[in-house]
Amino acid sequence: MNRKQRRQAGKAGGNTQPPQKPVAATSISDRLLGLAGKQAMPGTAALPAAFAPDPVQSLLAAEKQKRQREEEFARQSRALAANPQSIPLLRSVAQLALRLDKRAEAGAAYAGLHALLPDDPEVAHMHAVLSGSAPARPDPAYVAGLFDAFADTFDRTLTHWLEYRAPKLVADAARAALVGIKAENACDLGCGTGLLGPEIRDLCTHLSGIDLSPRMIEKARERKLYDALDVAEIVAWLQARPAKFDLLLAADVLAYFGALEDAFAAIRAALRPGGIFVATVEADALRPDGFTAGKSGRYAHGEGYIRKLTETAGPALESLALQSLARETLRQEDAKPVAGYVFVLRAA
Ligand SMILES: C[S@@+](CC[C@H](N)C(=O)[O-])C[C@H]1O[C@@H](n2cnc3c(N)ncnc32)[C@H](O)[C@@H]1O
Repeated sequence: MNRKQRRQAGKAGGNTQPPQKPVAATSISDRLLGLAGKQAMPGTAALPAAFAPDPVQSLLAAEKQKRQREEEFARQSRALAANPQSIPLLRSVAQLALRLDKRAEAGAAYAGLHALLPDDPEVAHMHAVLSGSAPARPDPAYVAGLFDAFADTFDRTLTHWLEYRAPKLVADAARAALVGIKAENACDLGCGTGLLGPEIRDLCTHLSGIDLSPRMIEKARERKLYDALDVAEIVAWLQARPAKFDLLLAADVLAYFGALEDAFAAIRAALRPGGIFVATVEADALRPDGFTAGKSGRYAHGEGYIRKLTETAGPALESLALQSLARETLRQEDAKPVAGYVFVLRAA
């Protein structure tokens, strides 16, 4: 097989992979890893109180699911040992290993995939993350591909299964910071399918949205809420629009940025004096003063890092002040709350 054929085989999933049972969407990682199916996850669906899941039953169901995954992992690993160049088997072992928190095994499978598919951006990203050399910023091609594949199921997965709160949190913080003044020109950065649109439409006169993923932008267009929508990369797009906005927003987008220095500098330059930027980040429990890439390939950021960037950074950032920062639950993952921060920066 040449490079192109190998890449196509990898994308198509090949025809040697045993059929996978659908698994409940218990986390954003499941969705991003392509593991989730259509069943409800106990404890995450919006059920009437009378039908609320029995915690003992939920625990038993989770135990059973874990056992099944362990068995499937053992089965797929045996098949892989017999056929170590199989791209579908490597993918399947990598994904199951991640679900089971077996990072070493997942790392080995991604190393195998990377050797076979050196040009695949998702494989390259996960290989780097799992081998401890996560990039300061992920390849835009990786992010675009990830969300193109996720676009059709994004809204239902996030709002129904995962109790996604980032858009509401960002909108509430923006409303509070604007104190009744309507923003003239706002942009929803990494707007995705436009879940933030309905929450902020009344806060601004002109609302644009940009995203790396053409499929997510198509979904946002269907809402008919944005005055302009573009497929674009945030930092480059903002750099070309100095002093243009009085409101910039990013709900669950900085999880696809590691280092935030460039992004904050571009945001500062694109804001008019007095303009605000409102965003969420996932809390980094490991590095409160830095950022870490997790097993889903997403980045978490420490509170100290956000404070440090706005308090002590160089000239590009010194006129960007932290106006508020609150710890919040951003969504559920494996039926547990995911902690993060919603913060507001104001340009001097
Ligand atoms: C988890 S989704 C959130 C979408 C939306 N903000 C929401 O809350 O529903 C993250 C989005 O950010 C976009 N994104 C990530 N990095 C980006 C970048 N550098 N430039 C533009 N879009 C980006 C992704 O394509 C994806 O649609």
